[in-house]
Amino acid sequence: MTTQADFIQHDAEPTSSITAVPHHIGIIMDGNGRWAQARGMPRIAGHQAGVDNIRRILEHCVQRGVKVLTIYAFSTENWRRPPDEVSGLMRLLGLTIQRQLNELNRNGVRILHSGRMEGINKHLQKQILNALEVTKDNDRIILNVAFNYGGRAEILDAVRHIMQDGIPPETLTEEMLSSYMYIGGIPDPDLIIRTGGGWRLSNFLIWQAAYAEYYTTPTYWPDFDENELDKALIEYNQRERRFGRVLNQ
Ligand code: FPP
Repeated sequence: MTTQADFIQHDAEPTSSITAVPHHIGIIMDGNGRWAQARGMPRIAGHQAGVDNIRRILEHCVQRGVKVLTIYAFSTENWRRPPDEVSGLMRLLGLTIQRQLNELNRNGVRILHSGRMEGINKHLQKQILNALEVTKDNDRIILNVAFNYGGRAEILDAVRHIMQDGIPPETLTEEMLSSYMYIGGIPDPDLIIRTGGGWRLSNFLIWQAAYAEYYTTPTYWPDFDENELDKALIEYNQRERRFGRVLNQ
């Protein structure tokens, strides 16, 4: 994400096999470390390449009509990584906000954050809050950055807030619980993509992904390009979403 060019300089190839476009896509961006290691580079170089790729995929999501993209950038479990990798990921988020915020804002991107602020250093917290504030009126696409995020922590935080608000247990509904999640009010993801070959949810959007379609590919995140996203969208179009119902009766 280093260029200053604006989004949408060309039309995406029309693809007749993509008629249903997911409103909300969540991506588990796995494989950065292996991508770097395969090139004899340090793992953090893979994360940098991963950041560069976010811009490419965000732009393609805009072209395809996706309205919300949630990216898993740092999990509550990632604190267990070597300290230099953790600090490298923190630094990358700060640098990315510093370098890209104006361009994202100019292109109508609204930034949201899912995750806990506690644990993130004060300066980075301010940068995150500033990015949310600066872009709050944008509506072309939402880029929701899951950073210091864990699905179980999110449910726990929601339950704590519900108890603090004194909500009577018998009045609590699924919709209310959803509204207490970090980005309450945003529709649940329709499609969850995992790169890097794994078949796990890894504590990502575990409440919201109850009825999402899943797609996994061995491609490492930095290599997951527009064509790869289209493959996921084509596969999504072949799925029959039943939400627990029996169709065609
Ligand atoms: C997993 O790759 C990916 C992550 C830990 C997070 C993804 C992070 C980025 C794309 C960069 C940070 C994003 C922002 C917005 C600052 P891995 O290291 O587990 O790869 P491996 O499985 O090959 O080791």
